[in-house]
Amino acid sequence: MARDKHKRDTNHNNLNKVDDLEQFREDSAGQHLTTNQGLRINDDQNTLKAGARGPSLLEDFHFREKMTHFDHERIPERIVHARGAAAHGYFQVYESLAPYTKAKFLQDPAVKTPVFVRFSTVVGSRGATDLARDVRGFAVKFYTEEGNYDLVGNNIPVFFIQDAVKFPDLVHAIKPEPHHEMPQGASAHDTFWDFVSLMPESMHMVMWVMSDRALPRSFRMMEGFGVHTFRFINAQGQAHFVKFHWKPVLGVHSVLWDEAQKISGQDSDFHRRDLWQAIENGDYPEWEFGVQMVEEKDEHAFDFDLLDATKIIPEELVPVRRIGKLTLNRNPDNFFAETEQVAFHPGHIVPGIDFTTDPLLQGRLFSYTDTQLIRLGGPNFHEIPINRPVAPLHNHQRDGYMRQMINRGQVSYEPNSLGGGCPMQAKAEMGGFTSYAERIDGHKVRARSESFFDHFSQAALFWNSQSDPEKDHMVQAFCFELGKVEVPDIRTRMVGILAHVDGTLAQRVAQGLGMTVPTKLDKPLNMGVPADADVERMQPKPVKQPIGHSPALSMANTVKDNIKTRQVAILAADGVDDAAVSTMKQALAAAGARAKIVAPRLGSLKGATGAEVHIDFSLLTAGSVLFDAVYVPGGERSVELLKGEGKAFHFVHEAYKHCKAIAATGAGVELLRASHLGRKTIAEPNAGENPLLPDEGVIIGGDARVDDVAAEFIKAIAQHRHWSREMKDTVPA
Ligand code: HEM
Repeated sequence: MARDKHKRDTNHNNLNKVDDLEQFREDSAGQHLTTNQGLRINDDQNTLKAGARGPSLLEDFHFREKMTHFDHERIPERIVHARGAAAHGYFQVYESLAPYTKAKFLQDPAVKTPVFVRFSTVVGSRGATDLARDVRGFAVKFYTEEGNYDLVGNNIPVFFIQDAVKFPDLVHAIKPEPHHEMPQGASAHDTFWDFVSLMPESMHMVMWVMSDRALPRSFRMMEGFGVHTFRFINAQGQAHFVKFHWKPVLGVHSVLWDEAQKISGQDSDFHRRDLWQAIENGDYPEWEFGVQMVEEKDEHAFDFDLLDATKIIPEELVPVRRIGKLTLNRNPDNFFAETEQVAFHPGHIVPGIDFTTDPLLQGRLFSYTDTQLIRLGGPNFHEIPINRPVAPLHNHQRDGYMRQMINRGQVSYEPNSLGGGCPMQAKAEMGGFTSYAERIDGHKVRARSESFFDHFSQAALFWNSQSDPEKDHMVQAFCFELGKVEVPDIRTRMVGILAHVDGTLAQRVAQGLGMTVPTKLDKPLNMGVPADADVERMQPKPVKQPIGHSPALSMANTVKDNIKTRQVAILAADGVDDAAVSTMKQALAAAGARAKIVAPRLGSLKGATGAEVHIDFSLLTAGSVLFDAVYVPGGERSVELLKGEGKAFHFVHEAYKHCKAIAATGAGVELLRASHLGRKTIAEPNAGENPLLPDEGVIIGGDARVDDVAAEFIKAIAQHRHWSREMKDTVPA
């Protein structure tokens, strides 16, 4: 299996991981059933017995092999990020980054570097719901010609803790409580809030996790961040600090908590399915790769420490330069072999990229291989097909469980003369990795730099940068999460800490919890201090921020100019105006959206003109929460039938409540009129000028041409949500 040349695409001069995997793919079409030894099996229905009604025989090697393999099918799930979904794709840089980094995959815009990307939730087990309120992992493995580079990031740009030694405590606190293993995949319980209420450094990340960022509409519509500050190193050995970003081409969009909970019931694989389906449909997910670069001389130019993973560099201070594009275009062939067995590691780097001394990053550099040794069962997991680099691999590492490489020759040490000195070290100009010669000068101490002590200023910056609806959702999230906390003292302490972030936020949360904001806490703010420390000295120290507001932090300012890949439900029954359905479908498809017919039952409908309309979902198999928008076409009979369905009313109520675009034409308007919406909104036109828009995002087409309605509907869907409607919270759904 030793491979001496890079796997290259046959048509392009590009590395090709998909072809590299080909030698491991198995396809049983037209083949006979065999044992693992290749012996053809004649009877896979019965064990070998002493007589048809007699005892099974130990001799039955086929039964024993089959059952033994089955008994060993499970491996430990990841200690964190257990639930995930992944896809193959490629990365292309827009222009050479040679002035900043010598990393080969960032030099030539013509080169497509293969990638495998795994998205995940952090807390839940493998079978947990996709829609938990949680951070999402965004791990990218670049199979570069210089070896694998892993950018193991999250969809939130900061982290809960500053030092890796606190990671096991954090994860123990947020995982299900150990005495009864509840709740699954949720932070809304005592131990999590107990821990963070004593560790104010977590407050910035807590603000992000309580925001809608923790409830992505899809993996394809979330940002990714490398979180830590890394280094770029150019061919001259010059370094720049760098923060990595992934910007989704479709914009950053989220669902509401009420929706998330309902989606978890209706389709707990919602994100996984969405990613899979988008790729199957040819709607390849795309992100632009962005970097914020800071010169070495400016290391201390900020009001926070670049080494502190609880801080961002606001984009208004250092703009994100978009340097390339990631495209995912192929689903894995086998979930276990690829998505489950892939092993990412922040320590997998290539020349041109290097670490900083961020104490969280430094700890991560130990943890990943350590955990993969047990998760994947030994030291040879780099030989699993999905983990193998496309770059050649030669060294003196030998043996161990499941070794697959057949190393030839007498020599497994260095230096050697018997093997001609091979494999040999590479000079830096030959691609040999050299660490950046950072000057390190200090005492051996267990300590936290005082430059890490400002825990609230960026939490406040995040809060102040949110739109009003986003702030409302955060208040509701805190009320939900702390409302699930059983020990009142933990709630009190948390609300007291929130007052250090923002007084109004604390007031609003306190009100929701039926309490007042405490003026004094029972303990110092920061309890994460060493036993012999001067506790007072270790308390949070606010630092004046250069900006009070960062538009880049609000999803209100994201891309809202298209409806590509949006899912639109068309509510219909027999007698539906099929001409309207097909006009609307065509208009939506032309804009890149996917329309699905939802009807009282499955099968097909007879349209008003007698045409057959295929039904995609019944009202039983899909609720409005699985869609981005709803259209109710005309056809009197269809609308009468829908009026007899409680679920049809619920569908539009819920879509309204979740602020989604709704359109109706012809008799379809009657369904809305007969619903709670008719009484509450349509009957009280408040729109003013445009008769097509009686309420934000609701398009009452009436007798208008379906084409015209579609044009308005498309504009409304592109807005993602119409938050002004949230105030009308009286809609029952
Ligand atoms: C000291 C802090 C941290 C430690 C010790 C740690 C440790 C781990 C461990 C043990 C795993 C499971 C790996 C496996 O079984 O293959 C993991 C997965 C992961 N971690 Fe961390 N982590 C830390 C912080 C972070 C941070 C700050 C980020 C984001 C920048 C992050 C992103 C991820 C991702 C995305 C995965 C899932 C990778 C996959 O899809 O397989 N972790 N982490």
